[in-house]
Amino acid sequence: MAVITFANTKGGAGKTTAALLLTTELLHRNYRVCVIDADPQRWFSKWYEGAALMPRLTVETYVSAPTIQKTVHERRSQWDFVIVDLPGIQSPLLASAVGLSDHVIVPIQGSSMDAQGGAQVLDLLRYLDRKAGIRIPHSVVLSRVNPAITTRSMQAVKRLLSEQEIHVLDTPIAERAAFREMFDMNRPLRKLEGVQTSGGEKAITNAEAFANEILAVVRTGAAKPPAYAATRGLPVYETAA
Ligand SMILES: Nc1ncnc2c1ncn2[C@@H]1O[C@H](COP(=O)(O)OP(=O)(O)O)[C@@H](O)[C@H]1O
Ligand SMILES: [Mg+2]
Repeated sequence: MAVITFANTKGGAGKTTAALLLTTELLHRNYRVCVIDADPQRWFSKWYEGAALMPRLTVETYVSAPTIQKTVHERRSQWDFVIVDLPGIQSPLLASAVGLSDHVIVPIQGSSMDAQGGAQVLDLLRYLDRKAGIRIPHSVVLSRVNPAITTRSMQAVKRLLSEQEIHVLDTPIAERAAFREMFDMNRPLRKLEGVQTSGGEKAITNAEAFANEILAVVRTGAAKPPAYAATRGLPVYETAA
């Protein structure tokens, strides 16, 4: 149905965490999900190998630049969602994966706004659009945001990005212990012990809102087309989600 790629050429931006949250929320809604773990460090695969069997989830591991195209093409017709988790380095995989995606999510750490790795992905997306007329819908998600951060400073960051015609999800991903524990315990968020505590409940609400928003942007092809696409009469990319 839809291919969603998590990309940022910097490690630690929160790609795998965001990919895992989306995956487990989609499973919770009874979708069938295939994750393509394109990171040689295999964080997603290691989580999956240690987790209890989940019949609606499969994880393809050791996927590299020469194999990603075939793997995505085969899997997209068989699964409701294909989620691609990329490594936190510059690699030829980035352009291949982005070109195969219905939507690219770029997690950028909200706390530090250290956006360099995200900017490399956004530059590539802009280049594909302007030079080749290939418009891949994409959104930034502010990740690892301190839950105590003021709405005003979040709004300022969003305004800064939207001035550059970059769509930013309304839902940031907060920095939460529960999001780290998913990896330590090899469990989905909702299956963590003690997740009924207030911190855990907030984490679930956050994951739920994040998945809702991604489903909505994937369905609509997301963000409005940038002004230059409209003036050049480029078609607005639509997904078949
Ligand atoms: N929202 C979050 N809350 C708490 N810890 C997080 C969050 N996002 C990421 N982390 C932690 O930060 C580290 C890097 O995150 P990860 O998702 O693996 O980043 P990436 O895949 O971009 O390299 C991991 O230890 C992860 O558990
Ligand atoms: Mg990762």
